[in-house]
Amino acid sequence: MKVSIIGGGAWGATLGQLLIDNNHEVLIYDINESFVNKINQEHIHPFFNDALSKNLLATKDLEEALKFSNYLLLAVPTKVMRSVLKTINQKITNKTYFINVSKGIEPDTFKRVSEIVTEEIEADKLAGFAVLTGPSHAEEVIKRKLTLLTVASLNQSFAEELQVIFSNETYMRVYTSNDLIGCEVGGAAKNAIAVVSGIATGLDLGENARAALITRGILEIVRIVEVYGGKRDTAFGLTGVGDLIVTASSENSRNFKAGKKIGQGMAVEQIFSSEAQTIEGIRSIYALHQLAVSKDMSLPIISTAYKVIYESLSIKDAMNELLTRTLKSEKIE
Ligand SMILES: NC(=O)c1ccc[n+]([C@@H]2O[C@H](COP(=O)([O-])OP(=O)(O)OC[C@H]3O[C@@H](n4cnc5c(N)ncnc54)[C@H](O)[C@@H]3O)[C@@H](O)[C@H]2O)c1
Repeated sequence: MKVSIIGGGAWGATLGQLLIDNNHEVLIYDINESFVNKINQEHIHPFFNDALSKNLLATKDLEEALKFSNYLLLAVPTKVMRSVLKTINQKITNKTYFINVSKGIEPDTFKRVSEIVTEEIEADKLAGFAVLTGPSHAEEVIKRKLTLLTVASLNQSFAEELQVIFSNETYMRVYTSNDLIGCEVGGAAKNAIAVVSGIATGLDLGENARAALITRGILEIVRIVEVYGGKRDTAFGLTGVGDLIVTASSENSRNFKAGKKIGQGMAVEQIFSSEAQTIEGIRSIYALHQLAVSKDMSLPIISTAYKVIYESLSIKDAMNELLTRTLKSEKIE
């Protein structure tokens, strides 16, 4: 089958190669001309030095990508998702399937990508929506290292169709889920905790502290998934805790590395300006803290990280805030 990928960065280009490996046809659309040229002319991944198939093609012409297929895989950062979808809606005429792989929550609205899609794509043009997510460093998938993902949709047969399209017998195994909300939210929430784990590492707090933050962070992921209406089981699966495990202490994770730099004293603006790639977790901390305030929900780790990142709370005061909270029993609730 044919798939158009919207956003050919680290993850979009890697999933393009996966689909080519699985004998599908792919056209990647990206606004960055140098990425497009790298894919078309050098057959090299835009961010990694791995070779790409000559059959993997790219374009900087959105209309060409939209004509190529009515299956659109969304791999742009969440911050541009709404504007990209507005443009797509103006240009498409056919019923179109959307597969989101980006992991974020829209700041200020706290909306999930599926909600943004429903708002921006007219109902008669929207054939289906799914999210494909789970523990996956693009750096490893492009090297065809074993990876397990989950595809979630409210439409079970669409999820099953995608499961077959993305799975192969050598390195990619895809599970299905009907908990769209849990899968969407888990990916965003774990990025926030990965940033915090990075901050702890940058501060050299030690492995005890990092393990504690990650474990208590899981509790916050569970709360976030449940407040959105997702299932607790999903939070403990591949798309929540599984994705946290791969992200929360890995130098391959941009969220972890960004947190580490914050812990070492670098300003967030400096991190954003020096990093060409998407760091969803820092924005997720913003969105999830706003959510916590609006729902009167306790997310002590994320909210303390918000104060450090966005309100210049000193690390010493942040630690003090966390450590002087009322002593309690350990419960997941
Ligand atoms: N990198 C990974 O290992 C990985 C794994 C799973 C999920 N994700 C998620 O996928 C999303 C993308 O991550 P990434 O690592 O590929 O980021 P990236 O920064 O490497 O790539 C994003 C791409 O989007 C393009 N882009 C930006 N604005 C655009 C626009 N308006 N129109 C078209 N293209 C545009 C950029 O040029 C870039 O090529 C994020 O939400 C991330 O959390 C990443």
